[in-house]
Formats: sequence, structure tokens, C-alpha cells
Amino acid sequence: MDVIINEVGLRDGLQNQPKIVSTDDKLALLALLEAAGLKHIEVASFVHPKAVPQMADAEAVVAGLDFGTSQVYSGLVPNLKGYDRGAAMGLQEFGLIMSASSTFSERNVKMSLEQSYQACSDVIKACLRDGNRARVYLSCSCACPYEGRIDEEVVIDIARQLLDVGAHEVSISDTIGAGSPNQIFDLTKPLISEYGARAVNLHVHDTRGTALAMVWAAYLAGVRMFDASIGGLGGCPFAPGATGNVATEDLVYMFNQSGITTNIDFEALEPAVAFSEKITISSLGGKSMQWLRSKR
Ligand code: COA
Ligand code: ZN
Repeated sequence: MDVIINEVGLRDGLQNQPKIVSTDDKLALLALLEAAGLKHIEVASFVHPKAVPQMADAEAVVAGLDFGTSQVYSGLVPNLKGYDRGAAMGLQEFGLIMSASSTFSERNVKMSLEQSYQACSDVIKACLRDGNRARVYLSCSCACPYEGRIDEEVVIDIARQLLDVGAHEVSISDTIGAGSPNQIFDLTKPLISEYGARAVNLHVHDTRGTALAMVWAAYLAGVRMFDASIGGLGGCPFAPGATGNVATEDLVYMFNQSGITTNIDFEALEPAVAFSEKITISSLGGKSMQWLRSKR
């Protein structure tokens, strides 16, 4: 496998849906994703249930996972309390929440950048103690809905601090799809040169049609792990106007078509897109899925 696709539809995708999806439906979607070959899956977030009611069943979702396989499940956590909840359920990989913008941080996790950095450091140390993995999401790495464009040096500096304190990875996250391919290249290339490819993940939203181009720019910079969400599900309740992540099927199609192996069966993603549409009562599917359906 040349690149890892980390499916975030069950978390980033469902957290912003007006309809709260049942635990059983989440687990049924997970089974369809796994049937298509997805191995890395973010299953839930352990945040305050009042902040994100769609994730209130995080424990129940994790209780429904089969840990006896080689699947890699992760959960998003904003603080130690979230980490303790996820670790108690047996999770070993965590997505931590940090932001490159102080206004977004205050709105999202009610913490200043300093407080959020402290919360992340605490969780990173707990992960190191427990032998678990910490990937820190740097929200608004390209731009903030409240502050506008964020300077690359600011983002790289925070990423370095997190990696130096022991994070296994940082995720350059374009929460509102405002970045450009060259900005993504400039953000990821120096970090990869310093810390290696495994230290950097890319998380982009396709709000303005630039997501695939940003993924390709990151690939050229050496990034080998990408977040995506099935059907392009998603958005962030704390980022006005944010739409879904880059669609998993578009990413899989693009990489497979380029001879870059993902070990994911593009056509087998169709039932997962169809089921996501059913449970969210919305019309989904990246361009590649629309093409596949018209061909059928
Ligand atoms: N899970 C569940 N409850 C939590 C929690 C967590 N991870 N972290 C804190 N709490 C509880 C505390 O125990 C406390 O409960 P109590 O009132 O019964 O004593 C209460 O929440 C307040 O704690 P505090 O630390 O002051 O939290 P807060 O009100 O400042 O909220 C967050 C901070 C991070 C918990 C909250 O803003 C949040 O969950 N945000 C979600 C962000 C998100 O998911 N964004 C989208 C993805 S990027
Ligand atoms: Zn996101």
C-alpha cells in the first residue's frame, strides 16, 4: 500500500448532520466501509455531548467494534477527559484537537491557544505513557472563518512544538476548504523534511472544489496519509459554511488511477455512499461516484 486513507465520515461526516444517526446505523456503515477495504477509521469523538449531540453515543459505537482484527480505529478527543473515556473503551489511536487560530479555538473547544496546547500536551503524554498514538489536528491550517488567512510559519511552528513534545503525527487541516495546492505544499514539505512522512497527515474539506488538488500537492510534498469522508459527508458545527471532507471515493479513484495503491476497492464504496445517503437523508457522492452510477 502506497498511501493510507483514514476514513473520517463517521466522525467529521456525521457530527454536523441535522439528523442524529443511530449507533446501529453507524456500525452498519462501518461494516460497509470495511468491506471496501478501509482499514483506518475514525469512529467517534469523545467531546461534550451537549457540544456535539451527534457524538453522544461514542462509547456505544466503540463497544460495537471488533478489536480482534488488524483494523485501526481512532477517536477524536479535546482534552484528558475525552482521552480517558476513549482509552477506557480500548481505543489506541487518538485525534487531538488544536487550532492554528485563537478565535476558532475559543469557539470550538472554549480554550485559548495556550490552554489548548496544554490540553494536547497532557493527552500526548498520556498516549506516550499508555503506548497509544496521538495525531493532532491543526484546524484552520490555511484560513480561519473568523480571522482569515493564517500564516504558514505560525502553523509550522505549532506543528513543530506538538511533534517535539511527542505527538506521533500532526494533521494539516483545512477546515473550511480555503487553502490552495501551493499553500499545502509549503506547509507539509518542511515538516516532512524534518520529521518524516509518517509525521504528517492531510485533512481537507472540499468547500471550494480545491480538495483533490490540495491532496495531490501534499502527495508531491511526500504526505502519505490522507483523511477523507465517504460520499463527501461532513462539515464543522463551529465553522460557518464548512462543507464536507474530500470524498473518499474521489481520493481512492484518483490514487488507484495513478497507480498509487490504496488497497481500497473503488466500486465497493458505492453501497457505503448509498447507505450514508439513506441514514442522513441527503444526497451525497463525489464526482467519481456520480460517474460510476451513470455508467451503471
Ligand atoms: N467529554 C465529556 N464531558 C466533558 C469533556 C469531554 N471530553 N470535557 C469536559 N467535560 C465536562 C466536564 O466534566 C464538566 O462537567 P460537569 O459540569 O458535569 O462538571 C463540563 O464538561 C465542563 O468542563 P470544562 O472543562 O469547563 O469544559 P468546557 O465547557 O470548557 O468545554 C470542551 C470544553 C472541549 C469539552 C467542549 O467545548 C467540547 O466538547 N467541544 C467540542 C468540540 C468539537 O467536537 N468540535 C468539532 C470537531 S473539531
Ligand atoms: Zn474536518
